[in-house]
Amino acid sequence: MRIGVDYYPEQWEPSQWEIDADRMKEIGVTTVRIGEFTWSRLERKEGEFQFEWLDQVVKLFSERQIEVVLCTPTNCPPLWLYEKYEDAIQVDGTGKRVALGIRGHRCYNSPSLRYFAKRIIEEMCKRYGNNSTVIGWQIDNELETNHCHCEYCTKAFRQWMKKKYHTVEAINEAYQNTVWSGEYSSFEQIKPPYGEFLHWQNPSYMLDYSRFATESLNEYIRFQLSIIRQHTCNQFVTTNTYMCEHMPDFYSEFEELDVVGYDNYPLSKLPEDSEELYSHAFHLDLMRGIKRKNFWIMEQLSGMTGSWGYMAQTPRPGMIKGYAMQAIAHGADAVLHFRYRTARAGAEMFWHGLLDASNKPGRRFEEFVDLCKMGKQCNYLDGTKCINQVAILYNPEDEFAFKIQYQEKELYYFQALKAFHHACTTLGVGVDIINGTEELAKYKIVVAPTLFIENKVVTEHLYEFVENGGTCILTYRSGVKDENNVCVLEELPGALKTLTGCYVMEYDGIGDSIQQIVKEDQTEYEITSWCELLQVTTAKQWAAYKGSFYEGTPAITVNQYGAGTCFYVGCIGKKAMYRDIMVDACQKSGIAFRMDLPEGVELSVREDEKMQYIFYFNNSNTEKEVDHMSLQPFEMKILPREKA
Ligand code: GAL
Repeated sequence: MRIGVDYYPEQWEPSQWEIDADRMKEIGVTTVRIGEFTWSRLERKEGEFQFEWLDQVVKLFSERQIEVVLCTPTNCPPLWLYEKYEDAIQVDGTGKRVALGIRGHRCYNSPSLRYFAKRIIEEMCKRYGNNSTVIGWQIDNELETNHCHCEYCTKAFRQWMKKKYHTVEAINEAYQNTVWSGEYSSFEQIKPPYGEFLHWQNPSYMLDYSRFATESLNEYIRFQLSIIRQHTCNQFVTTNTYMCEHMPDFYSEFEELDVVGYDNYPLSKLPEDSEELYSHAFHLDLMRGIKRKNFWIMEQLSGMTGSWGYMAQTPRPGMIKGYAMQAIAHGADAVLHFRYRTARAGAEMFWHGLLDASNKPGRRFEEFVDLCKMGKQCNYLDGTKCINQVAILYNPEDEFAFKIQYQEKELYYFQALKAFHHACTTLGVGVDIINGTEELAKYKIVVAPTLFIENKVVTEHLYEFVENGGTCILTYRSGVKDENNVCVLEELPGALKTLTGCYVMEYDGIGDSIQQIVKEDQTEYEITSWCELLQVTTAKQWAAYKGSFYEGTPAITVNQYGAGTCFYVGCIGKKAMYRDIMVDACQKSGIAFRMDLPEGVELSVREDEKMQYIFYFNNSNTEKEVDHMSLQPFEMKILPREKA
């Protein structure tokens, strides 16, 4: 396993570089990521390149057999560039160029940015594209979808719309623009959304804008990728993504990249709610599912987080090692810690690294040293994968659409996915989170929560999957809109009605109030936020509402369709409800599960043809007993098992 660090040599005296490289070598660091924000050091004046210092750094690592991942420095163009070529600076939703001084201000579509980015990337690639120490590239840093309002981005949006619709009449038709006299009479009227009240903008337009913003990001990635590919050989290319405000469509974002890179910052203060506790595992499964293969952690929690807000709790003993191993358990093949040493200057000086600015190895560093040893001992994991029988479908357009139109307080996209993931985790059942449009045949259970925007491919796959014997779980707010984000003209869940064997008669937003549902065996569950009143056609009732004017009305149903089963969950529940639905689904599909896992203990499996490796992780502050083993807080144990 690769264990490494993110290193910023440009922030330290050159005399420190060799000392750092020596120490990294000594403790067993395999990989460093460098170059991320270094444009002004590489090109101090327009067209004057200084690579000697970077050559020296790469050489130091090369001499110590430490691999290097280089970053394109485009997140931070130098001030001379912004000053001379203003179009390189993004324009925000008020129509103003963003104020300089932080980072990430570059506009993806600016001709100047493109020109200078191409030149600096070419220079880097020509220099290091055949260097065997440099094994890969990271494009930019933490890219979000495009939300720039400059003239070039506006033009690009218009072109995107023209390509999709050809005429404004077609847009008016698709968006139903007669509402509030919103009809376009010329393409010139089409602009990125401005103003504060974005949630009042036409949702059809907003969804198309999200699609454009995504495609615009992807195009920027392809632009950099093609330069790198042209001038390098045998070096992988990735970008480091994260769970951000303007979330990319991860599937198209990484389509042409070689490996998924993710920045993993688990909370150092354990959340009281265990749903959140397992959300790191959820994100890791999401990352593995993007390309359905193992991934890299480009940045990993190393110390107290801060600078962007108040300083958080320092990572508890065991967390540095434990969370890195947790990522490996979920399919990471490399974990790079952000950052080797805490910055002494600049805005992020309180986002701590493994070492403090003093450079004195302390508790966190010692733990990292242990992790390096553990990584080496884990080389038997090379080539192993996570193989699961349960999939949760993630549909980027649903994520966009729920953000565009909030439905209810607790009703947001990730909540729906996490609830089922959480249930599976407590039962020790491994889950893949995959693109909704993927083939489903290899799974036994498919959970497809909140299919808000109808996607014909997803719908077809689900019918076929259940027909052939699969168990599928669908939920509230499904089949609501067509692909234009316009309501369908039928009872919900629209095109999924035959599969669910029930339809929604009426729905009720109950906010924070708690209500009950009850099963035939009198088990009761608390629900909140959202209630759909179901009418069964071919389905059977799984649970009905208790209390309210709809007492006795089905809330959750289960339908036989072809050789399979489809659950429909019409309400938002608490943990117990999701867990019991998953237990029922596992029993129906013959998937093994466990009822005895202590809270906080996570199981995962990596395997190859011959062996399975079972990972036991104690994601809690207290010692836990499981399978006659004791696990200290944040401890990971790996048990090998020969395959039958
Ligand atoms: C990441 C980012 C890093 C650093 C880190 C800590 O999101 O990629 O450059 O800023 O957060 O704030």
